[in-house]
Amino acid sequence: ARLVVLVSGSGTNLQALIDACADPSYGARVVAVGSDRLGIAGLERAERAGIPTFTASLADFPDRAAWDHALTEATAAHDPDLVVSAGFMKIVGAQFLARFAGRIVNTHPALLPAFPGAHGVRDALAYGAKVTGCTVHLVDEGVDTGPIIAQGAVPVLPEDDEDTLHERIKQVERSLLVDVVGRIAREGHRIEGRKVTIPS
Ligand code: GRF
Repeated sequence: ARLVVLVSGSGTNLQALIDACADPSYGARVVAVGSDRLGIAGLERAERAGIPTFTASLADFPDRAAWDHALTEATAAHDPDLVVSAGFMKIVGAQFLARFAGRIVNTHPALLPAFPGAHGVRDALAYGAKVTGCTVHLVDEGVDTGPIIAQGAVPVLPEDDEDTLHERIKQVERSLLVDVVGRIAREGHRIEGRKVTIPS
């Protein structure tokens, strides 16, 4: 399966996918990496692996619809079977959703539907949650509201701050994402309402 991965930051989830794809039996390869900004480690990871990159910065477009169009076309040019949003910190637009409907996977650092949005780790900590984690889900028009595919739990330790907790979540998150993407790549997936089934 052909993967296009979207990133906005350090790209450790992307790296985990790139590493997994080195094994042909994984069944997928990262054909391009897209971002919403330049100068991020995620893009460097792609370049180091010889993977083509593209960037669509919101600030370079007159409005969100024009940005959405550019991101959609740049992604479609690589003909992905699956789009993986791995720390991509923008909400994709209507055109993007329509073009890749049911084929966009996102990873979120909290146990949805708890703590959606850009600060899932901070919000769980501030709330006093004793268990949090990560969620791999399909993307729909809401913010972190799409059908859940898999989740991993991570205990909150008394001494945790946002960084230490996020780091432990990311360890679970990377292997969960690699597992889910590989299974979808190899087996496909079925969506019935909010239920996502992968044969394996
Ligand atoms: C992940 O925890 C992802 O869920 C999020 O930001 C982090 C991205 O990490 N929202 P990286 O760029 O893959 O290292």
